[in-house]
Amino acid sequence: MIRLISNKIIVVTITCGIIISSAFFSGCHDEEDSAKRGTKDTSEWNAEKLASLFEADWSAPDTSTLAHDAYGKLVRYGRLLIANTGDYFGPGGKISRNANGMNCQNCHLDAGTRLYANTYSAVYSIYPKLRARSGSVEHLEKRINDCMERSMNGEKIDSLSHEMRAMVAYINWVGKDVKKGVSPKGAAVVDLPYLDRAADPAVGKIVYENLCITCHGNDGLGKLNDDGITFLYPPLWGPRSYNTAAGLYRLSRFAGYIKANMPNLTSSHDKPTLTDEEAWDIAAYVNSMPRPEKKFPGDWPDISKKPVDHPYGPFSDKFTEEQHKYGPFKEIAEAHKK
Ligand code: HEC
Ligand code: HEC
Repeated sequence: MIRLISNKIIVVTITCGIIISSAFFSGCHDEEDSAKRGTKDTSEWNAEKLASLFEADWSAPDTSTLAHDAYGKLVRYGRLLIANTGDYFGPGGKISRNANGMNCQNCHLDAGTRLYANTYSAVYSIYPKLRARSGSVEHLEKRINDCMERSMNGEKIDSLSHEMRAMVAYINWVGKDVKKGVSPKGAAVVDLPYLDRAADPAVGKIVYENLCITCHGNDGLGKLNDDGITFLYPPLWGPRSYNTAAGLYRLSRFAGYIKANMPNLTSSHDKPTLTDEEAWDIAAYVNSMPRPEKKFPGDWPDISKKPVDHPYGPFSDKFTEEQHKYGPFKEIAEAHKK
């Protein structure tokens, strides 16, 4: 019975060399365990320890475990494309020159392996998936091309191309250990609670100028690398940014992403820099600035499924496009529940 629960428990049994009955671990804790236990009743501690074994944060497999065979090479190439997309698909790209020069990992941090940064942990386990935006069951190739056409403001790439096969192989490899149907904690971005007011671009501008301008620039255009083509700091608006059909153009996706991840390198999910209000207000400011406009007439065939912060009508409710863009979102969410 114990063996079925967890490998870790087997190890404990063997190293302690005792027969475990009702109380797991009793009589053989390491120092750290004993210290923790000091303040707590043993059964409570055991329950916590057991729970933590099952709820451990997801982490990506290690690329050093990949063999140097054809499959290993394909996965590595996929990772390279996701990390350095601008070199391959941006202006001056080695494969094609249609996309804006951003990298997938500008938004899917650490090539989609960092928690709360549009992580790829739940792609293999969930796709193919029925998506309300298209009203159809989408394969991973379609989803990758969605980001190509929207976030990268580019063109679709051929599903059978070596590059598409490589990105698919990599993304599936990242999530290979996640059970089908399961979405591990931290798979997308933080879901921030809605404010009681509309998000305010004017306030957001001030915070942007304090915390973001050094890297993303006062014109929002980011900063180019020495090659003059790829980005050191990606743009937040302007001609080379994501377009108006992209995920980040929805306020909740933008605010949730920056809450856990920006300013870059000094912010994390555990130690965010921004307050929730700042995250919402900056999102409002950035998304009020000019960017490429693109519409996909096939989007949201069932308009009642549009998320509260989808900024384009027609809507199944009475709220304006303005309110769907900046909020307040609570009352929209309430109306949708009815
Ligand atoms: C500007 C930011 C941005 C860029 C660049 C970007 N994406 Fe995305 N991507 C997103 C966001 C945001 C979502 C989630 C959208 C949502 O929740 O509606 C997403 C979702 C996805 C998903 C689905 C994840 C899931 O769990 O359902 C895949 C796969 C994906 N992107 C792949 C890519 C690839 C491959 C590239 C590069 C070719 C790319 N993305 C570039 C922002 C971006
Ligand atoms: C120290 C430099 C730095 C600062 C300061 C900074 N960023 Fe970033 N930001 C980056 C870098 C670098 C990336 C791309 C990360 C990667 O590719 O690993 C990025 C990516 C982003 C992205 C996703 C890609 C895109 O361009 O759309 C958004 C959105 C973003 N930053 C918003 C902000 C906001 C808002 C602030 C201020 C609260 C901020 N950043 C502060 C460096 C910075």
